[in-house]
Amino acid sequence: MATEAHTPDRKPHVPVLLRPLLRAVAPVEGVWIDGTFGAGGYARGLLEAGADKVIGIDRDPLAHRMAADWIGDFAGRLELAEANFAEMDKVASGVDGVVLDLGVSSMQLDLAERGFSFMRDGPLDMRMSQDGPSAADLVNEAGEAELANILYVYGEERASRRIAKSIVRARAEAPITRTLQLAELVESCLPRSKPGQSHPATRSFQALRIAVNDEYGALYQGLMAAERALRPGGLLAVVSFHSVEDRMVKRFLQVRAGQTGNANRYAPVLETEKPQFDLVTRKAVGPDKDELDENPRARSAKLRVARRTDAPAGEVDAAAIATPQIKGTR
Ligand SMILES: C[S@@+](CC[C@H](N)C(=O)[O-])C[C@H]1O[C@@H](n2cnc3c(N)ncnc32)[C@H](O)[C@@H]1O
Repeated sequence: MATEAHTPDRKPHVPVLLRPLLRAVAPVEGVWIDGTFGAGGYARGLLEAGADKVIGIDRDPLAHRMAADWIGDFAGRLELAEANFAEMDKVASGVDGVVLDLGVSSMQLDLAERGFSFMRDGPLDMRMSQDGPSAADLVNEAGEAELANILYVYGEERASRRIAKSIVRARAEAPITRTLQLAELVESCLPRSKPGQSHPATRSFQALRIAVNDEYGALYQGLMAAERALRPGGLLAVVSFHSVEDRMVKRFLQVRAGQTGNANRYAPVLETEKPQFDLVTRKAVGPDKDELDENPRARSAKLRVARRTDAPAGEVDAAAIATPQIKGTR
């Protein structure tokens, strides 16, 4: 989900849904993991609200470099770790709270050289961690069916097959290496967008970004890692930006709070184990009117909060929490 970076004058920004999040987890105490540190807005908010310590995890080395000039403001109360939140329990456990603010930051989106944006020309990269295969590798090497699946499942792009075919045709002539090269190619496959509609390449870029960073795999693993990392009574707060992410968080919390019922009436009734979470927010919390007036982009943000019980942590089936799966052909 997009958030604004610290401005050059170091004025901290107010990240999306921070106020409702701090209200939902009050009183803030003890040690918290911020699994999506980004520009540090949530970490700063938690520290200012009373957390003794925040462990900021981000897989983007840039987020850590950006924090270097203000981490000293919190003298020993802010620790950073370059890691994937899918493994947060290896960084810390027994913590009082975990926050996740999913997706990409506007700091990442705004830098052309990171290759996330269809508005700015840059290398077709999109890697948050800056290692592993890039979007260019995916676009130039994946089979046509896999590309179409990625665009359809991760981007909900209805013209997925047409775009995948066009990519495969274009790359036979010359590799696709630049963001604008891909954006123009996608645009050429779709009707011109009407005023007020999003850019035609929005869905394709979102899909590729999710695939390159295995965002849904990380979320699936990350929710289970949070379950392991939290002490009994500890709080999990997740802010999501897309319906697919929110559905995964909602389903995970329903399953772990023992609130799924028997979805399949033909399935045997399972011995119900003690739930790992109690729901704190029954429905997703969105931005209030003030936040929407300040930041219209916050309109799709959703917050869900749950409290860890003392039941042992365990495994959840990926399909049970609606984790989208791509059938690969590479
Ligand atoms: C929306 S931003 C978070 C913004 C932050 N709440 C703030 O106030 O500045 C998401 C951040 O999470 C990081 N991120 C996304 N997925 C991650 C993962 N699986 N592990 C670690 N960091 C991740 C991204 O690199 C990005 O910096």
